[in-house]
Amino acid sequence: MSEVEALREAVDRAMRAALEAQAREAQARGLSLEASDRERGAEEREKRRARGELDAADLRAAWLAWLSGHIPAEDATAIVDDAIQPTDAVRHVRRWLRRAGERFVVLSGGVGTGKTVAACAAARQVAKDPRDAALIRAPALARYLDPWRHEREHGERAGRVDHAILIVDDLGTERLDDGRFLAALEELVDRRLAGSPRRTIITTNLDAEHAIERVGGRIASRWRGHGRVIHVRGEDLRLGGPQ
Ligand SMILES: Nc1ncnc2c1ncn2[C@@H]1O[C@H](COP(=O)(O)OP(=O)(O)O)[C@@H](O)[C@H]1O
Ligand SMILES: [Mg+2]
Repeated sequence: MSEVEALREAVDRAMRAALEAQAREAQARGLSLEASDRERGAEEREKRRARGELDAADLRAAWLAWLSGHIPAEDATAIVDDAIQPTDAVRHVRRWLRRAGERFVVLSGGVGTGKTVAACAAARQVAKDPRDAALIRAPALARYLDPWRHEREHGERAGRVDHAILIVDDLGTERLDDGRFLAALEELVDRRLAGSPRRTIITTNLDAEHAIERVGGRIASRWRGHGRVIHVRGEDLRLGGPQ
């Protein structure tokens, strides 16, 4: 190799090394920019959280947690992914939500016809986030509205019923013997009617006639005056019946 060729090769090698070093440095700068973007993003998220606001990822996680507390995890996932089947219950509830001014709907129908799932899907649709939604099982209602007992058992004040949407699930499974349930239900219905428009869904395996008989004329007339009682058709979806 001549001296000139050797020199040219040395220059080439030095150039390549310099270019590679430059590329590495540029990449590192890019990465650190990305990292500081990420940091800034995390900071923003923390600030939002401190203000009690949720971003899209938080919101999805919060809804999944709320829903999974009330229905099987697969159903919860289907709801947050907008992938639930348009069952009779779901169609009725969607139609009811479009009727402005209606406050109550009673979903009456057999076991497994999708009433609870439809009600939970409505909660997700109506409430800004899960803190503005509540599901109370009928047997727990009287206790929920009893401030002393609730505070003792849950360490928090009882009876918040100002949620944008509230579900009383499985009317008919509560005890009626001491009169506390009906008193609590009446109080709930009255409190839900006062103030800004709020949606209340009641699910029950009783047929409409028996549900109304059970709660009595005063409550039933409020339901009817500010909403409706709907019969949900369908077979038990849990047994793989038609959807
Ligand atoms: N809209 C729906 N899309 C898909 N699956 C559903 C839907 N509704 C109900 N199911 C299935 O049926 C099961 C029973 O529904 P659920 O709402 O608990 O019935 P109900 O409250 O009327 O007894 C659910 O766990 C789910 O597997
Ligand atoms: Mg149910």
